[in-house]
Amino acid sequence: MQIYIFDSYEDLSTAAAAATADTLNLKPDSVLGLATGSTPLGLYRELIRMHREEGLDFSRVTTFNLDEYVGLPKTHPQSYHFFMNRNFFRHINILPQNTYVPAGTTNNHKAFCDWYENRIKESGGIDIQILGIGTDGHIAFNEPTSSLGSRTRIKTLSKQTRDDNSRFFEKPGDVPVYAITMGVGTILEARRIFLIATGAAKAVAVAGAIEGPVSSMNTGSALQLHQDVVVFLDNEAAGKLKLIDYYHWIQENEPDAPEVLRKQP
Ligand code: GLP
Repeated sequence: MQIYIFDSYEDLSTAAAAATADTLNLKPDSVLGLATGSTPLGLYRELIRMHREEGLDFSRVTTFNLDEYVGLPKTHPQSYHFFMNRNFFRHINILPQNTYVPAGTTNNHKAFCDWYENRIKESGGIDIQILGIGTDGHIAFNEPTSSLGSRTRIKTLSKQTRDDNSRFFEKPGDVPVYAITMGVGTILEARRIFLIATGAAKAVAVAGAIEGPVSSMNTGSALQLHQDVVVFLDNEAAGKLKLIDYYHWIQENEPDAPEVLRKQP
């Protein structure tokens, strides 16, 4: 894992966006795996800015979102469809037919999940998967004890996740109980993975994912099995890392690190 620690959320978002744009410029028909939640908002804002001001082109890009709440129609303000349109898709020149978000209202979950997995494969596989992390270490909606080989499927949300996400809903009882989510195994097939986390509330989950044992109790820890993971953290999210001095040293001295990832002296 390459671990980069930034002084602010803005800095980490800018670095993650620059690294994403590097790939898009090299491969204009890239396939991106996208995440929701508050964490990637800064990254999306910066990519939108690069599109508007620097001509970053999404016309040949395909995207697959990680997950969606079961039962929420696309028009529901808390659905991930709605979130992606409001915060990203409608601000860039991506073709709507190239944006995939799991269908929360399908009647046949198994058939839909198999279709989604196939669409990812037929599109050539994901070049960069963007990930946030839940306070219990979940990636996408792969809650603790999810199989580390799991594929796209329906998943029951944990109480902790429902409590965490209740801030977006009118009342706690409105938070859906189920989600459709890419599996850990699906995520691990992406060629490159960017994990982003901000704030002290994520510090324990982040430490478990990076330094803990590989365990389904923190599904983010499965990223240790992947050969190309870049982690973007702010100081608060990095606050529980045991080897933090080592990561800082690498960030400051690593000659091969892209300029944008190197800490300014
Ligand atoms: C949800 C999403 C995850 C996301 C997590 C953290 O559970 N399914 O993909 O990483 O929330 O959200 P936030 O970034 O708002 O802390």
